[in-house]
Amino acid sequence: MIGVLVSGEGSNLQALLDAGLPVAAVASNRPAVPALARADAAGVPTRVFELESFATREERDEAMALWLCEEGAEIAVLAGYMHLLTKPFLEIFPERVLNVHPSLLPEYPGAHAVEDALAAGESSTGATVHFVDEGIDSGSVIGQVRVTVRPNEDAESLHRRIQEVEHWLLPRCVNLYLEGGVWPE
Ligand code: GRF
Repeated sequence: MIGVLVSGEGSNLQALLDAGLPVAAVASNRPAVPALARADAAGVPTRVFELESFATREERDEAMALWLCEEGAEIAVLAGYMHLLTKPFLEIFPERVLNVHPSLLPEYPGAHAVEDALAAGESSTGATVHFVDEGIDSGSVIGQVRVTVRPNEDAESLHRRIQEVEHWLLPRCVNLYLEGGVWPE
C-alpha cells in the first residue's frame, strides 16, 4: 500500500490512481489543493499537515508519516510534494520514499529544474524517479526518460511535456519497486 504526499495539482497522483496502484492515503502540506479533490473523488482518505499547526518541521513530518502508516502505507511517494522531508519521516519509511522530478538527475535538482535546464541552453532534459534522502533531489535513481527541448520552447510548454512523461514513468517505477523489478523493464 502506498502513501502519497502532494502539494498542488496532483496530476502524478492521478496517474498512480489511474494505473490502479494501491493508494492507501494522501497527505498534503497545503489545504484545498486540487490533488486532495482527486483523492476524494477516488475515495482515498486525505489529511492536511500545515507547517503552522506544528511546533517544528520535524514534528509535522513525524505526524504525517505516522498517519500514513496508520492508514496502511508501506512506502511513500512524493507526487509534486514541494517541501524537503526531514529525518523523522525518512526514519519511519527507511529507503521507502520515492520522488518524481522534472530533470535528468543529478542534473538540475531543486524547485526550478525546467527553467534551469532552459537557461543553460540544454537541447534535452527529462524526468526522473528516485529514492529520497535528506538532500535536495539527491537519492539514487530508479528510472529516467529523456525529453528533447523544442526550438524556442518556453518553460510552460517543456514542463507540460515532461509531465506527460512523468505520468508514464512514475506508475511504472512504483510498480517496479513494489514488484522488486529492475529498470529498464
Ligand atoms: C511535477 O512536474 C513534479 O516533477 C514536480 O512537481 C510537479 C507536480 O505536478 N516535483 P503534479 O502536482 O503531480 O500535477
